[in-house]
Amino acid sequence: MTEPILTLEDVHVVHRLRSKRATGSGNVYALTGADLSIQPGETVGVVGESGCGKSTMAKVMVGLQKPTQGTVRVVGEDIWSLGERDRRRKVGTKVGMIFQDPSASLNRRMSVREIIRDPLDVHRAGTARDRAARVDELMELVGLPRSAAGVLPGQLSGGQRQRVSIARALAFEPALVIADEPTSALDVSVRAQILNLLLELRERLGVAMVFVSHDIQTVKRVSDRVVTMYLGRIVEVSLAQELPVSAEHPYTRALFSATPGLLDPIDPIPLVGPVPSAANPPSGCPFRTRCWKATDICAEQMPEPSIAADGHLVRCHHPVPAGTSQAQLAATARTVIEARHGDLLADADSSGDGGGQLAAVGAAIALDEEVEIGPDAPAGASTGSLNEPPADHHSQETP
Ligand SMILES: Nc1ncnc2c1ncn2[C@@H]1O[C@H](COP(=O)(O)OP(=O)(O)O)[C@@H](O)[C@H]1O
Ligand code: SF4
Ligand SMILES: [Mg+2]
Repeated sequence: MTEPILTLEDVHVVHRLRSKRATGSGNVYALTGADLSIQPGETVGVVGESGCGKSTMAKVMVGLQKPTQGTVRVVGEDIWSLGERDRRRKVGTKVGMIFQDPSASLNRRMSVREIIRDPLDVHRAGTARDRAARVDELMELVGLPRSAAGVLPGQLSGGQRQRVSIARALAFEPALVIADEPTSALDVSVRAQILNLLLELRERLGVAMVFVSHDIQTVKRVSDRVVTMYLGRIVEVSLAQELPVSAEHPYTRALFSATPGLLDPIDPIPLVGPVPSAANPPSGCPFRTRCWKATDICAEQMPEPSIAADGHLVRCHHPVPAGTSQAQLAATARTVIEARHGDLLADADSSGDGGGQLAAVGAAIALDEEVEIGPDAPAGASTGSLNEPPADHHSQETP
């Protein structure tokens, strides 16, 4: 087997907040026990609601976020065992990053030419002439006119600014590009152009990609494997092709049920209750407060990962049998929830908004919000006591 470009081994990121009042515990469990390898040339999509740790994992992958526990390897090397200069060189030349908002990620005072040349300057790649030639090459590669070289990012459109970010990320011909919501800050009219550019470059350069997006249908379309995250944990890693019916984690199924596919109409699997806070994750399986399949064991133990021969990984005590149709699953979930929370379903039918407590998972994605489980959570939605912060987390102070 070829050596992975990047490996995460039991990676945790815990932010320690100065104010305990904001969170209750003082800790935010942004990423917990992440294990993942990225092979050369593959595209791995990452999906999950806002606040589930996608950007944290992306930043860990490019060395911008130091894990509070665990190991990050780039081409076999533990990057946090290296000195800062060696780490920057190792990561900077192998892994490129494209951020969500090009307006925020590009230096407003540097010209396009300087921004693209910056990583080459920092790592003193070749002569000044080599670097200038590489900037021309990169601008052509991403479809920027030569006339843009001297202008500031503020003088460009959003789409052009994201082309500059892409050129900068590709400066060293990296083996892996991490794209964190690369199109979601752009006008709808240019999103497809930027996505197509990324896909075209991926083919031309044979680069591996980690593609983080809310748009799970696009993630499915462009990825080889899809990682589902929930409250800081990787709960499923699926082969993209057969999704969603190959997914065995109830949350992956619920995510897909909230957006229409080419062949599947929307038939949302209803989930009861708010998304728990990353500062106060539920005991056992983090999804158990909203999962229609939850039983007592789900509140007691985090399920161990089960890995199939094809690499499909799922962490669930009661996985959905592969092949179960989305419609069948939605019907089953409705029946279970009706028995437990009939009043909520009736509210949802009459008001159309589920009385605020019953929501398809897509609603939480769109709202970009995170809510702490509190006394307003519906009876029975939470079946066990909330966890004290796990003892094995190491945390770091965050102002
Ligand atoms: N610097 C930080 N300090 C405290 N909490 C943070 C920090 N960065 C992220 N978080 C928290 O960590 C969790 C994961 O955030 P993030 O990785 O940005 O999620 P996503 O990208 O999936 O929306 C959230 O609860 C978020 O509020
Ligand atoms: S472990 Fe239990 S609560 Fe968690 S997803 Fe599986 S069935 Fe649902
Ligand atoms: Mg994010």
